[in-house]
Amino acid sequence: MWPWLLLVSLVWAVGWLVRDGRALPSVSDKHVFITGCDSGFGNLLARRLAQRGFRVLAACLTPQGAEALGRACPALRTVLLDVTRPDSVRRAAEWVRGQVGDRGLFGLVNNAGVANPIGPTEWMAADDYRRVLAVNAVGAIEVTLELLPLLKRARGRVVNTSSVLGRLSANGGGYCVSKYCIEAFSDSLRRDMYHFGVKVSIVEPGFFKTAVTNLESIEASLQQLWDRLAPETRLSYGEEFFHKYLKVQRFIMTMLCDADLSKVTRCMEHALSARHPRTRYSAGWDAKLLWLPASYLPAFIVDFTLATILPKPAHRVR
Ligand SMILES: NC(=O)c1ccc[n+]([C@@H]2O[C@H](COP(=O)([O-])OP(=O)(O)OC[C@H]3O[C@@H](n4cnc5c(N)ncnc54)[C@H](OP(=O)(O)O)[C@@H]3O)[C@@H](O)[C@H]2O)c1
Repeated sequence: MWPWLLLVSLVWAVGWLVRDGRALPSVSDKHVFITGCDSGFGNLLARRLAQRGFRVLAACLTPQGAEALGRACPALRTVLLDVTRPDSVRRAAEWVRGQVGDRGLFGLVNNAGVANPIGPTEWMAADDYRRVLAVNAVGAIEVTLELLPLLKRARGRVVNTSSVLGRLSANGGGYCVSKYCIEAFSDSLRRDMYHFGVKVSIVEPGFFKTAVTNLESIEASLQQLWDRLAPETRLSYGEEFFHKYLKVQRFIMTMLCDADLSKVTRCMEHALSARHPRTRYSAGWDAKLLWLPASYLPAFIVDFTLATILPKPAHRVR
């Protein structure tokens, strides 16, 4: 019994590896549109795809970002896009239509994202959620819906940038909520697009050193949240909680953040260039060994672990 089981597993694993390693014969006729290319993963991905011969359409939030990217990589084309503004999304989609013509759009990478403010849920205002969801969730959804007809024409691919925090909600604020949202959107889109040949992949990076994980901006945003708290709420947490919370953020951002962004862009490249893109990609050792396994644990174990590790409010129920 066991030798047979082992043999079947081995054959399955080898088959999977061979299938996973098969690449598309040519990419030089394929257009890929990427959002949030000013910095971070989007910037690196745009340059790498252009080097590999893809026709890259890189959307930047700022004119400075677009100029710098255009100078660094003349092979790609840039456009300005603020994913939170419907007029900007429509203009960018019109531009993409003009670029791709009858071929349609082969790839869309929804990468633009913001993280702050993150912190205890009680410290948030509804607007804090709105701002993050507007970029990470509604923005990505709006861009996808605008470009879907072009993606259908090319039997193309959508690559959505989620996070391990879209599998395990470890902190309050709009970030985890927005990433859970993009996971659900991707799953429904993949199922709805099945018969049209449009493939949808989700990339779930762990923690990487980019502007999103910049310690100074996280600390400044936490300080703002703390300063605006009602006296009664602030008292219930206590100064010590705030300082310990900052310490935990410092630890995560300095110890966990990986500087090798190519671990993420390689996943995105595979999703765009493999004959059989995967449904989910996890990028980074912390994603593979810590966050994703933890996301499968019973909630009470994760709750207890986080409650033990994270700072405790001054006036808690004992
Ligand atoms: N770094 C990580 O540890 C990590 C982990 C998991 C997932 N992610 C996700 O990866 C994606 C890329 O982030 P990153 O880490 O590469 O950080 P990043 O360097 O800050 O990249 C985010 C990009 O999105 C742009 N952007 C912000 N608001 C936008 C808007 N309204 N419209 C269009 N573009 C906008 C930013 O432009 P500006 O530079 O001009 O602000 C920036 O270029 C995000 O979705 C993020 O949530 C990151």
